[in-house]
Amino acid sequence: MTNGSVPCHIAVIMDGNGRWAKKRFLPRKAGHSAGSEVFRRIACYCRDIGVQYLTVYAFSTENWKRPQDEIDEIFSLLDKYLDEVQATMLNDNVAVRFLGNLSHFPSGMQRKIDNVHKLSDGYPSGVCQVNICVNYGGRDEIVRAAESILKNPPEILDENSFAQRLDTKGIPCPDLLIRPGGDFRISNFLLWQIAYTEFYFTKILWPDFSEKELAKAIAEYNKRKRRFGGV
Ligand code: IPE
Ligand code: IPE
Ligand code: MG
Repeated sequence: MTNGSVPCHIAVIMDGNGRWAKKRFLPRKAGHSAGSEVFRRIACYCRDIGVQYLTVYAFSTENWKRPQDEIDEIFSLLDKYLDEVQATMLNDNVAVRFLGNLSHFPSGMQRKIDNVHKLSDGYPSGVCQVNICVNYGGRDEIVRAAESILKNPPEILDENSFAQRLDTKGIPCPDLLIRPGGDFRISNFLLWQIAYTEFYFTKILWPDFSEKELAKAIAEYNKRKRRFGGV
């Protein structure tokens, strides 16, 4: 367990699956499969320690550049997770939401996502919510928000009313963002929402990430002094 306060919202760029597989002379898809298991474990850990929101980056708007068989594997893992989540959600005590541009997904997958969202709507507030970002890009999200505003302008356009049109509507901004995999960049994740987020980068590849590593990130977060522009 962790000492100090637990961040309300943790965001994770789940990176390093391909390199993890390569190191083991395995196909990249083996890395995605191992990464998806780690995601399940970390989500349970977050729920158990009292994190209210966990937002993970699973597939970016730029990841369509990858070979089709890799894309197919990622979506098949996602589909498997959707089935599992519908069957076990009520026992797991975690609400699940999908963020990103979901409008062009196959209708079967959209139905499953809608069903998971309906089940999540039934949860009392305060339960841990896991947000999975698929076909998500921070820029795309901002453009879609701007489109929605053009179609149906709010009475007053300010930061609050703009944020109401983002996929993260109603979700507080992340307190801590973790990027495993060894790269020091954001790769188009939550561009609007990370204005005052604390960053934690680690070389550990996502499939090697653990509860212990998350506790380490939280301990580091607790050493930070957040000023939000003040003194
Ligand atoms: C992250 O792992 C998963 C996705 C982007 C879908 P990568 O597949 O990017 O793994 P590396 O960065 O190539 O090791
Ligand atoms: C970010 O990882 C996207 C996800 C983890 C889903 P990438 O592997 O796509 O990022 P880059 O290409 O190294 O910036
Ligand atoms: Mg990567």
